[in-house]
Amino acid sequence: MINHNADYPAEQKANAPSPTVEPARTASWQAEYASGVLAIDALAPDILRFALAPTGSPPHRTWSVAAVAEETSGCDFAVERADAVDSLRTPGMTVTVTRAAPRFTIARADGSIAIGDVEITAGDGRLRWVSALADGARVFGGGERTGPLDKRGRTLTFWATDPKPNFDETTDAMYQSVPFVIILDQGLAHGIFFDSSARATLDLGAMHTSELAYETTGPDLVAYFFAGPTLGDVLRQYTAITGRAPMPPRWALGNQQSRWSYATAEEALAIAKRFRAERIPCDALHLDIDYMDGFRDFTWNTANFPDARGLIRMLGELGFRVVTIIDPGIKVDESYHLYQDGAQKNYFVRAVTGGAFEGWVWPGRSVWADFAQPEVVSWWGEQHRGLVESGVAGIWIDMNEPTQADMWAPEHVHIPHGASLPLDAVHGPECDPLSHADFHNAYAIEMARATYEGLTRLAPERRSFVLTRAAGAGSQRYAAVWNGDTTSSWAHLRLATSLNLGAGLSGFALTGGDIGGFWEDTTPALLARWTQLGALLPFCRNHSAINTARQEPWAFGEPYTSVCRAAIELRYRLLPIFVTLAHEAARSGAPIVRPLAWIAPQHSESLDCDDEFLLGDNLLVAPIVTEGAVERRVTLPPGEWFEWGSDVLLAGAQQVVAPAPLDRIPLFVRAGSILPIAGVTQSTQEQPTQPLELHIYLSHEGQSATAEFWDDDDHPQAEQRGSFAAYTIHATWRERGVIEVSMERTGGDLALRYPGVDIRLHLASGVVATEAYSRTMHDAHLSFTKRFVIG
Ligand code: GLC
Repeated sequence: MINHNADYPAEQKANAPSPTVEPARTASWQAEYASGVLAIDALAPDILRFALAPTGSPPHRTWSVAAVAEETSGCDFAVERADAVDSLRTPGMTVTVTRAAPRFTIARADGSIAIGDVEITAGDGRLRWVSALADGARVFGGGERTGPLDKRGRTLTFWATDPKPNFDETTDAMYQSVPFVIILDQGLAHGIFFDSSARATLDLGAMHTSELAYETTGPDLVAYFFAGPTLGDVLRQYTAITGRAPMPPRWALGNQQSRWSYATAEEALAIAKRFRAERIPCDALHLDIDYMDGFRDFTWNTANFPDARGLIRMLGELGFRVVTIIDPGIKVDESYHLYQDGAQKNYFVRAVTGGAFEGWVWPGRSVWADFAQPEVVSWWGEQHRGLVESGVAGIWIDMNEPTQADMWAPEHVHIPHGASLPLDAVHGPECDPLSHADFHNAYAIEMARATYEGLTRLAPERRSFVLTRAAGAGSQRYAAVWNGDTTSSWAHLRLATSLNLGAGLSGFALTGGDIGGFWEDTTPALLARWTQLGALLPFCRNHSAINTARQEPWAFGEPYTSVCRAAIELRYRLLPIFVTLAHEAARSGAPIVRPLAWIAPQHSESLDCDDEFLLGDNLLVAPIVTEGAVERRVTLPPGEWFEWGSDVLLAGAQQVVAPAPLDRIPLFVRAGSILPIAGVTQSTQEQPTQPLELHIYLSHEGQSATAEFWDDDDHPQAEQRGSFAAYTIHATWRERGVIEVSMERTGGDLALRYPGVDIRLHLASGVVATEAYSRTMHDAHLSFTKRFVIG
């Protein structure tokens, strides 16, 4: 159940016994201090909520929290009173809070301190949380951000912002504002999420090296604590509160192509045909703002797209889905139905002086849909009916920080880059208004919700796909994110790994960036390297700005076309892994791409590494992000690693130099793992004609490997309807050269879509590298065990 705009369940508050009742078991503890009432709740044994509400502050508002009933339905804690402190104990944690001031520590079950010396103070219209930051602790998350993955030593500003095109490692606020961080100390992780949509800052040891200080201008301070102790646990706990990315439609995990803009039906069709002629796999074409009539949302430029429905049908026959862009700025035009209707209903953001606030964006003079009004959310969703009926499969939402732009404004209008709406602009129903200052960081969440829920209502039989630029905590419930307007430069290619890992550690499983870079002309080698990296990120789309050189995968001829084709083919080969990981993300909040720290939380070189990533737990990607490089240093986490392609076995916990001629992206597979891999298809909808390959990597006798495999029929309720295929695959290298492989159906009624299963053994120590075993399936529910004798 999703509980929007809701305060923490009222009945729990009302029933909360006072801390003076003793001894007590309670789900809520409260005490009154000079700065306000502090309430502490246990939502689960490993999730706590702290709320300090100054006297007279309005009820807490949240757009981030999705009450996922079972996981967070509350947990009792025992309260013990001593002279000056109360101890609140859950099965997993103990909070020791002083009665003299809102000061507390949080300890784990074994007595070790997770967060020490927390103090919440109020003053100057601000609320502050200060806590101890242990020496050597690393801090991850905080949304998509540039610079090192470890944010310790920086101050993060939470204010969704369209950054300048030349943003770099030192840039602070970007498109996403997610006040959630994961602290990793001596291999143990915990998380803190500050639930506010107002402007805030988080100092991670910048001012005082051993202090974490959060400061908000919002009316109250609400913080959640997640006990970990692994990165995966913290993400599971955080997404139990803020929600998880639903399973995307299968096509959205395929390759996608975009440009600002494919401006006519002929051009769009020609692009799709060229993909097929070049044999470069692709699943979707994006239409940027020029498909509209004068940048009016939900209209078509009928001169250039005279038959949208016919075009989308033809693209569909070629195996392409269509995604159209929608912006929140609405053209001020008395003859435009959306403007008339919204103006009449008072659905636009208001100026503090009264009337709709008018500013500037693509259509010229514009007003903004006010997503803080619940009716606007459903009204906006309904506007997508025409697009859905024409066959549009997904919606791309943009400029939703929200951002103004003067590109097509009259000469005298000057809007600085990245300007948003005025802080005193008014949102929400007349009876319950709130300022833009308080709503800014939630604007994109609610626009994504409006879009996602609209699409889901209009086409309940299919999975909705929304792509958003701006995002807040919880946006992952509705939309995938991309990294916005990068520049086609090696410097920005280098930032891609941090941006996407950071977003993944902030709850966004489905992320990616514009392959080739957005602003300025890309170069052949840059496009090739960017395609190699981008094809292994969860969301894979080539996109570029107006007036830049063409950068479709074939734009520069050979050898670049073949390099791009091979990179995209590899993505389609790995599709079973992407689908399985997307399902894992929907269940547990685990990102699809992960930092090395995910599997090596104690290995300092892995913790420092932010130019490599893991696809899942077992495939290590070391992208080439330096112009002219033909090799690179690779940090291997502890364990043993097979070099992809050569099957050379390398010891972990060391750096190696990997060769990387233009046609090669260094990849490594963890020993003791299984990768399910498919044959290349031209789209994800194509029926595979090749068997599913189970690539089994074992380095020594006695080693085992296990993998989960998930596939489904793409229906939004596949899980409930049983229209899925879940398997556990297991391999063990027993003594005397016997290797046992089993594939066992663990759930679902869906027949495996592949015409058979091939087992490929990748073994070390001079043993024959691979052995193929094919099994043709007559039984949809195939389970089998196979023994190999090797050596
Ligand atoms: C913004 C988007 C970009 C898009 C352009 C025109 O800059 O980030 O992707 O192409 O607007 O719609």
